[in-house]
Amino acid sequence: MANPSGGSLGWHGSIERNATLLLVLSLIVVTIGGIVEIAPLFYLENTIEKVKGMRPYSPLELAGRNIYVREGCYVCHSQMIRPFRDEVERYGHYSLAAESMYDHPFQWGSKRTGPDLARVGGRYSNDWHLEHLKDPRSVVPESIMPPYSFLASRELDLSNASGHLAANRSVGVPYTDEMIAAAEADAKAQAGAEGDPASVTGRYPKAVVANFDGDPRVTEMDALIAYLQMLGTLVDFSAYKPEENLR
Ligand code: HEC
Repeated sequence: MANPSGGSLGWHGSIERNATLLLVLSLIVVTIGGIVEIAPLFYLENTIEKVKGMRPYSPLELAGRNIYVREGCYVCHSQMIRPFRDEVERYGHYSLAAESMYDHPFQWGSKRTGPDLARVGGRYSNDWHLEHLKDPRSVVPESIMPPYSFLASRELDLSNASGHLAANRSVGVPYTDEMIAAAEADAKAQAGAEGDPASVTGRYPKAVVANFDGDPRVTEMDALIAYLQMLGTLVDFSAYKPEENLR
């Protein structure tokens, strides 16, 4: 029962009646709570569980990812499968933190006008993606997705491919000097334009090598499809055991 005269909580009453004292003491309590919650994170070696198979994006995939962001695909598509039965049955294994550890910025999102794309890689053929991006209704008649056919006629700007990898390295993505030096050549080789595809797959295992749109030039369409085709394919979930991946 409330006791207006204070009773055994009288000491607390004097705090409640003095706004300044209440503010100062609240601040101290919140600070202690904050330190207890946040400080340990600085001493953990790693807050993301490492997972076998994760690698940085290949230069072509990275360029495709930029186009994905530029075109606002994230407005309609999320890239994070939540650990709920309906999502896992529809999209596959729920997303692991490590799967977006090289994403700057991440593409998680909660707005799904279209389906989640975290594991769309390998689900369709390269040709399906080409047709779908050029004219979504040619393959999915009821689709409300806008067409992006112009990407096929725009040559991909590779003039600063190395700088792009270097910028990602500065925020923690483990690109080597060799990867940075070979960025432009690797992008061309992955799009089947020129060079040795084996050097790309050597540096970036599971990268999908193809001339995605049939155009001899490296186009923005090539980059975007290369990116879509690797999404969610790096971790081999048939061999994934959460406890083995703890360091
Ligand atoms: C206005 C919302 C909207 C935007 C913007 C949009 N999409 Fe879609 N997308 C959809 C809808 C709705 C579907 C489901 C129907 C279909 O397959 O076309 C879809 C389907 C897809 C699929 C097939 C997914 C699956 O599992 O079947 C892919 C891949 C895709 N979109 C990629 C993209 C990319 C890449 C971009 C940006 C260039 C983009 N979308 C922009 C609405 C959108």
